[in-house]
Amino acid sequence: MNVVVIGAQWGDEGKGKIVDFLANDADVIIRYSGGANAGHTIVIGDNQYALHLVPSGILYPNKTVYLGTGMVIDPEALFKELAMLKEKGIDWEGRVFISDRAHIVLPRYRELDKQRDAQRKKPIGTTGRGIGITYSMKSDRDGIRLADLTWKDKMEELEQEDRDFLAPYTERLLSMKVNLTAEMYKLRSKHVLMEGAQGAMLDLDSGTYPYVSSGMSCSSGAAVGAGIGPRALDRVLGVFKAYSTRVGNGPMPTEFDEESQSELYKFVRDTGREYGVTTGRPRRCGYLDLVALRYACQTNSIDGLILTHLDIYDSLDEIEACVAYEIDGKEVTDFPASIEELNRAKPVLRKFSGWKTSLKNCKSYDEIHPAAKAYIDFIEKYTEVAVDIVSVGYDRKETIIRRNPWK
Ligand code: IMO
Ligand code: MG
Repeated sequence: MNVVVIGAQWGDEGKGKIVDFLANDADVIIRYSGGANAGHTIVIGDNQYALHLVPSGILYPNKTVYLGTGMVIDPEALFKELAMLKEKGIDWEGRVFISDRAHIVLPRYRELDKQRDAQRKKPIGTTGRGIGITYSMKSDRDGIRLADLTWKDKMEELEQEDRDFLAPYTERLLSMKVNLTAEMYKLRSKHVLMEGAQGAMLDLDSGTYPYVSSGMSCSSGAAVGAGIGPRALDRVLGVFKAYSTRVGNGPMPTEFDEESQSELYKFVRDTGREYGVTTGRPRRCGYLDLVALRYACQTNSIDGLILTHLDIYDSLDEIEACVAYEIDGKEVTDFPASIEELNRAKPVLRKFSGWKTSLKNCKSYDEIHPAAKAYIDFIEKYTEVAVDIVSVGYDRKETIIRRNPWK
């Protein structure tokens, strides 16, 4: 059984925590897209781990993880992350494999990424990790894949600085190389958890282009990124927060107003620890955008939603969520492609009463306050997708399961 977990907003939805939680029942975990632009935080008791490339399942002592075909891998970042894991007592050796078709990020691409974004009239605000450059080299058919490291002619075509960079990593990378399609075939009766990065609204095709990342962060990307076909995906889960965040530039119709709502803005940012794991940038915060969430459900065939950060709203008297956009005097509920329309969109808000109680210690859905349940019920009705899991804190234990995705 193949279960896909994607971000259903603009990234940073809490995918790391959820993948770590679901990995308990998975045989293997595959990260299928993106690169070191991702930042997945996992909290286990007193320990906190920030992962960028390695799939979140690595923290379980015996699980095997794969870095998929759809990923772009910076060897320097990868081995730094693996060294960090080892230092924290995570024995990863023999458990981390990389698709032979995954592309490699070179330091030159990182520099180019930063330069090009700075030169843009309207910068995207990339993470500067060379992601866009590597994916464009790939589409331009000039990229370097893991499998190419043993291709003498190809290596000779590279600049000397690239060869010098790759040399100390080549042997280690090759020792982790697998044919992912063949692996997936062997794993066909197992529980495979497919971990997405970024989010539906940062997907190159269905996101808020050009303010997107360059990989396939959509659920279809899980098939491509793991070397299998779309019919092999059994369930798609979409993770979203009780509110919205976005890092970098681009439209965000429900962003709080930094002046008139400065208190709410600061409250959500600080309580939700909304600072980037990869770049440390403060995240933009706003109301839950149900127009965007429903669009994400539709573009990704989301079977079940996973709500995180619900506890951030614990102390508010009243909460609001966006149920439509007002654009040029018209109410719109289908997510527009036009960036200009999105920039003009004003959120139409619906009020919900707050629950004014801590949800942190709720162990089952029955224990959740009725006002919080009313918020969840509305989200389910609006999106026509059930909320299967609710997260009420950072720890693995602070997770309420309503429907087990493996069953
Ligand atoms: P996780 O997996 C949030 C954003 C960047 C920028 C845009 C393009 O942690 O949810 P890029 O470097 O990818 O070319 O930048 O995408 N971005 C993310 N935002 N979470 C992420 O990943 C992101 N990965 C990229 O901030 O706006
Ligand atoms: Mg992140």
